[in-house]
Parts: sequence; structure tokens; C-alpha cells
Amino acid sequence: MSIHPEAQERNDRIQAINPAIFEALSPLGRRSFFPKGIPFQAAQSKNCEINATIGQITDGVGNPLPLAPMAEKLASLNAKDAFLYSPIQGRDTARKAWHAKLVKEDGRMEQVAMGVVSAGICHALNMAAELFFTEGDTLVVPDLYWDNYEQIFQIRLQGSFKTFHFYNALGGFNLEGLRATLASVQGKVHLLLNFPSNPNGYSPTPSEMKAIAEVIVEAAANRTVIVFCDDAYHGLVFEPTATSKSLFFDLIGRSKNLIPLKCDGVTKELSFFGGRVGFLTFGVDKDCAGILVDKCMGLIRSGIGSPVGLSQYLMEIELADPRHEDEFEKMRKVLQSRYATLKQALSRPTKQWEVLPFNAGCFCLLKLRAGLNADEVRQKLIHDESVGVVNQGDKHIRLAFCSLKEASIEPLISALERVCEKFPLLVT
Ligand SMILES: Cc1ncc(COP(=O)(O)O)c(C=O)c1O
Repeated sequence: MSIHPEAQERNDRIQAINPAIFEALSPLGRRSFFPKGIPFQAAQSKNCEINATIGQITDGVGNPLPLAPMAEKLASLNAKDAFLYSPIQGRDTARKAWHAKLVKEDGRMEQVAMGVVSAGICHALNMAAELFFTEGDTLVVPDLYWDNYEQIFQIRLQGSFKTFHFYNALGGFNLEGLRATLASVQGKVHLLLNFPSNPNGYSPTPSEMKAIAEVIVEAAANRTVIVFCDDAYHGLVFEPTATSKSLFFDLIGRSKNLIPLKCDGVTKELSFFGGRVGFLTFGVDKDCAGILVDKCMGLIRSGIGSPVGLSQYLMEIELADPRHEDEFEKMRKVLQSRYATLKQALSRPTKQWEVLPFNAGCFCLLKLRAGLNADEVRQKLIHDESVGVVNQGDKHIRLAFCSLKEASIEPLISALERVCEKFPLLVT
């Protein structure tokens, strides 16, 4: 299919700044651009005295005409911010607030341009993948991963996975597995890392994180490496040894061949699950990042139309409030307390499972003994004990302590053990 001249113009500019990034773009990534259509023209005219551009119902001077039941509920908010369209790339104020938050986490973010707003973190991952991931491409990912990655990279985009064991023999992150698996893929390679991780609640130690970054930089010596950093559970760490900083920061400016992509948002960090505000940030040269944002605006315009304005506005209010950091810490402490109770409940010996190391996030993972099927255990647990958990493949059970009251933790573990005991031991 031919490339639209507007897309060609963006591609030429990317090529001039960094040919490795142009080469890394998928066919869709190369075709994408933000057209000079209605949102573009409306943005150009936004300060005009008379404005007949956008299909947004207003009083004629820029104010919305909200319906009373909604307006009454949102009466304390500025109606324009609450009811009118967001710009396609996200509200400037929201993008600036998130960028400032990331700069506070790590000064290297100063070198990186503001991210583009997405409709939640999954959408940020999908947009990142659409830009760079091509049918037939390989994604390197640890063997314990969020199941939705299969929908994005395999079902939607028709690539395949190459996995390595998440843990090494000592229960730390399997650095050598990562190194060997990256080395086993010829040419352009994609890597997805999610810390703190879902489903197994692990955040590397600071020295592990540094070593992971070194392995990635080394892998990018002679070919393009695209790294998807899924930071959905950022900040939810419960041990001093668990890093709370994103891997993304350690990848900024390390190599022309390295394309770090940061996917994060309000879902877990701000406990705003239904808000659907995420960010995709490009850890590349700022000018190039600007063009990639333009390409994302084409994807957003053609996919979800525009991101949710109201929840971006609420996010800005939250981040600007002097209570914000204390509020986050209060939430983290609630989880920390459940984490401690769960660790305690899991500390008693059992023949039914092995607890995989966890120190962060919202989950822990149990590897069931031989002879148990995780889906059968899960279903029997619902039937016999009225307890819901998730099976991860055939062997693992995931416990989401983020949604458990502390008093339910011990009863859950006991119920799970009772159910496991009902299945016969494998005689070998
Ligand atoms: C690892 C991981 N990444 C991304 C997401 C998606 O977040 P969102 O709900 O913002 O799309 C989740 C949600 O469960 C997740 O566990």
C-alpha cells in the first residue's frame, strides 16, 4: 500500500534524525500520521472569535451545554474541562503534570519529551506495539506474564513469543535467561518487561535492575532493540530491596539502536481504574518523540476518537493536590499490610504448592505440586469453598491481595490447601 505524503514527510524526518527508528517502524507505524482534519483545524482556530469548526455542542462562546443530572454531580468542577473534548494527544495540562511526576522520580526524564495520553495502559501498550511490532515479529518476555499480552502481540498483531524463566535458581530475576533469549533472536527484537510484575508480584533489586539495563544495552550493540516497559504497578513495593524506579530511566540515551517505550498511567498508581488514563512515553530524541506522538495521534483518531477528558482533568486535580503523596502512601500501606499478612499465611509449610518470590505489586503466584491442575483447583475452590482465584496456565494460581480484606487472607489460604488436599498425590 502506498504511503500518504503526510506520513512520508514524518518518515523522512524520523529517518534524518535516527534511521534506526524509521527502520523499526511497522508498516502501520510508517503509514500513520495525524491528518490536517477536523481536530487539527479546530485546534488552529481555538482562539477565533467565531468558531464553526468542531462538532461539539456549546453555547456558542465555548462553554458546554451539559445535561442537568450529570452537571449537578460535577457541579464543583469546571464545566469546560469536565464536558468538552480533550485534544487528541491528551490535555496539555495532563501531559505536563505526568511528565513532571516522572521528572521528580528521575532527573533523566528531563531529556525525554512528554508522553501521549492513551485510554488506559493497555491502550498505551497496544499503540506502542502498533507503531513498531510487525506480523511475524518476536517478542521476548519472561514466562510469567499478563495474559493480555497474547491478545495484543499474538492475536491482534500476529507475532510470536520467545520466553525465558522469570526466576533464576536463587529466586532472583533470570538475567542470564534474558541475555541468552535476546541473543537467540536475529535482527530487530522486541522485549517486554513489567515491574512490579503481574502475575507474580516481583520487582528486581536496584542492582538487578542496573544489570538488566546493561544486558539490554549490550543486546542493542549491533541491531535495534525495542523495549516495552509496562509500569502499571509503579510504586507499589513492600520491601526495601524492591526497586520502585522504572527500568525505562536506565535505558534513556543509552544507544541509537535502543527504543525504550514507557507505558504507565493512573489505573493502579492513582487507584483510578475506570478513569482510563494512560501514557505512552518515548525514550528517544525529543524531536523524534514528537513525530512518534503525531503518529499516535493518527492511531488515536482512528481508534478511540479522542481520550477521556474528564478523567485527565481529575488526574490533574489529584496530582496538584498537596495531599497526593500522602494519599498514595496511605494506599500503599494498606497493601503493605495485606502483603505482610499474606507472607505470614504462606510461611507455614505445605506440600501443596511452592510460593514464588514476591515483594511488590498486587499479586503473588503459587506453583502447585505435581498432580494438580490449576484450573481444576480454581473451579473446585469456587464450588466447595466459594473462593475465587485465577489460574495462570496449568500449574500456577494467582492471588490478588490488592482486592482482599486482611481478615480473608488466612481463610483463603486454608481453603486453597483443603481443596488441593482433595486431589490425589501423584505416585511416581
Ligand atoms: C501488567 C499490566 N499491564 C497493563 C494493565 C492494563 O492497565 P489498564 O487497565 O490501565 O489498561 C494491567 C491491568 O491489569 C496489568 O496488569
